[in-house]
Amino acid sequence: WEDFAGLIEYHTGSYDSLTDMRRLAGRLRALDEAHQTGGNRIFYLATPPSVYSHIGELLGATGLAAEKPHGRGWSRLVLEKPFAHDLASAIALNRVLEAHFKEDQLFRIDHYVAKETVQSILMFRFANAIFEPLWNRRYIDRVSIMAAETVGVEHRAGYYEQAGVLRDMFQNHILQLLSMSAMEPPSCFDQDRVRDEKVKVFRSLRPFPLDNLDDCLVLGQYGRGEISGQPVPGYVEEPGVDPVSQIPTFAAMKVYLDNWRWEGVPFYLISGKRLSTRVTKIIIRFKHVPHSMFRHVLSEDILPNQLILGIQPEETIHLTFQTKTPGARLCLRSVRMEFDYSRHYTGPVLDAYEKALLDVMLGDPLLFWRQDGVEAAWAFMDPIIDACEKCSNRASRLKPYQSGTWGPPEAIRMLQDPYWGTEV
Ligand code: BG6
Repeated sequence: WEDFAGLIEYHTGSYDSLTDMRRLAGRLRALDEAHQTGGNRIFYLATPPSVYSHIGELLGATGLAAEKPHGRGWSRLVLEKPFAHDLASAIALNRVLEAHFKEDQLFRIDHYVAKETVQSILMFRFANAIFEPLWNRRYIDRVSIMAAETVGVEHRAGYYEQAGVLRDMFQNHILQLLSMSAMEPPSCFDQDRVRDEKVKVFRSLRPFPLDNLDDCLVLGQYGRGEISGQPVPGYVEEPGVDPVSQIPTFAAMKVYLDNWRWEGVPFYLISGKRLSTRVTKIIIRFKHVPHSMFRHVLSEDILPNQLILGIQPEETIHLTFQTKTPGARLCLRSVRMEFDYSRHYTGPVLDAYEKALLDVMLGDPLLFWRQDGVEAAWAFMDPIIDACEKCSNRASRLKPYQSGTWGPPEAIRMLQDPYWGTEV
């Protein structure tokens, strides 16, 4: 660390000033020479997204986006989500950036994809022969993808008031989890082959029935409540939030994929802040047995099998199934077979951001969004966001929920899931 820290430089400047950007370019050239770095550069924009295009232009105008031939002296630009505000602004942003950067210089980061357990979805699905034959509409009844948080908006009101949960979590993280759960097997583990398959999933998303939003979308906003026994304020009481804000902090959505594999299988996507527990998981619910030979002797339903991919904080994979309860009476019990990522593993584990930044340095964009994916995701989300933001009944669409609960009761009703929470 001592050696490394000695090499850290700090340079101040305004990100909208050409003069300052020229000064930065001069400083970088001097550092290149002093340390013989070969001119490799990574620009990480930890700025409001609204200034991405301006910074991109200045980097271009000062020659900082230019690369030397043969992979020496590369220049990479890391962009945080949200990538613009909607489809039109995403296209406009890209138009500006592509004037100076090639697609392989752009790293649109989505730290969710770099989580170990999320990366592992592809290994689980495509490095095992026994699951994939069942991974389709013939055996799967429904898929739920849930990212519940206990944190509130905290100090990020300025950003969150523009974004809301649909732009903050759904257009990116949740749609990535959906694509990895639903995609076809890529022909090889290659950045473009994998991302091609993801884009196909986004393109198969059935457009939302905008005339019947209530059947497939519930939006909520947290009110006061308790998290871990501590009182917490409601969203509109958070610092920097408009006291009459109608920004959703919770959404539950039912979506369908129009393709052979998934026709008719609902995907429930759920995410919210200030919920009861921090948990992200993907629940694959299989169909009921086609015929129950126990129907005369058992009073209760036979619970369907569930495969649960625990993303965080529990990093596990569970499969639930039925066995006989020991004893003379015929009775079934659900049990679970469980795999825990960390058990029996003692090697190093990379945090999602460590992995993402390492991949930027290595120039491997597999875990990053490609522009066609960004556009397909916005194309799906835009009409939903518009219908919610521009509708006359915006306030009535937003259901209040108490902090520390599982969201608005309307969401539980929409899920229509008698087995919700029966994960053994
Ligand atoms: C960020 C969102 O991208 O992801 C936050 O902007 C959210 O609102 C966070 O809290 C969740 O990430 P993690 O890794 O903490 O689950």
